[in-house]
Amino acid sequence: MIAVAAPSSLMVRLVAPLVWRSDVKIAAKLEGFAATEAGSALDMLKAAELTDDPALRRLFFRHALDEARHAQLFRAAARRIDPRGRDAGGASEYRLIHATRQNLFERYGLVRFVAFVHLAELRGESQFRALRDHFRAGSDGNDLGELFARIAREERFHVAYSGKLLADWRREGRAREVWQAVARVRFTRAFDAWRRIGRVFGDHATRLLLGLLYLVLLPLFALIQRRRDPVRNGWKRGRRGHEMNTLTDARRQF
Ligand SMILES: [Fe+2]
Ligand SMILES: [Fe+2]
Repeated sequence: MIAVAAPSSLMVRLVAPLVWRSDVKIAAKLEGFAATEAGSALDMLKAAELTDDPALRRLFFRHALDEARHAQLFRAAARRIDPRGRDAGGASEYRLIHATRQNLFERYGLVRFVAFVHLAELRGESQFRALRDHFRAGSDGNDLGELFARIAREERFHVAYSGKLLADWRREGRAREVWQAVARVRFTRAFDAWRRIGRVFGDHATRLLLGLLYLVLLPLFALIQRRRDPVRNGWKRGRRGHEMNTLTDARRQF
C-alpha cells in the first residue's frame, strides 16, 4: 500500500470502533482500501517498467502483484459483507475511478520513490496490524482479523526490501541523497496531512458559523422586524412620504 495516508496505529485502534461500526461502513472502508491498493499496484507496475535495473524490476513487479492481490482480497471481503454495496449507486465503480496511478516514479525519481514507498509501507503495515488486533479482539464473524493479519505480513516484505535499498544506498556513499529524499517525503506527507485536516476543520467551522447565523442572527432580525412592523390584517398605511391621497397616487402603487 503506498498511497494511503494512515494515522498512527494507536489512533487507528482508538477510532476503529467508530469507523468500523457497521457492515455498511466496513464494506465501504474495505472498498476504499481496495481502490488504494489497486492504485499502488499500477504505480509499482509503472516503476517496474521504467527502471533499468533488473533486480529492482523484479522487486517492483512482485510488489505490484502483491498490491493487486490485496485489492482483490479487500474487494471480495467488502462484497461478502455487503453484497448490495456492489450496485449501490455504482459506488464500487466510482472508487475504481480513484484507483489511479500517480506516476510517482517519474515525478520523484528512484531514491525519493523508494523513500516514499518505505514510509508509506511502514504506516500501512502498522495500520493493518492495528486493525488485525481490533477485529481479533472483537467478535468478528467476517474473518477480517485474519485478512488484515495476512496482508500485514505481506506488507512487511515491502517495508523490508525498501528499507534495505535505502540502507544499501547509504552505505554506498549516498547517505545525503537518501536523507534528503526521506526528509522531502516526510515534509510532503506532513503538508498533505495539514491540508486534509484544514479542509475538515474548515468544513466544520463553516457549518458551525452558518448554523449560528441561522439560529442567532436571523431570529434577531426577525424580532426587530416584527416590532417595527407587526403583522396585522386589513389595509396598511403607506410608507411616510408615499401617502395616497389622490386617484393618481392610487394608480401608481404597483
Ligand atoms: Fe504494500
Ligand atoms: Fe498492500
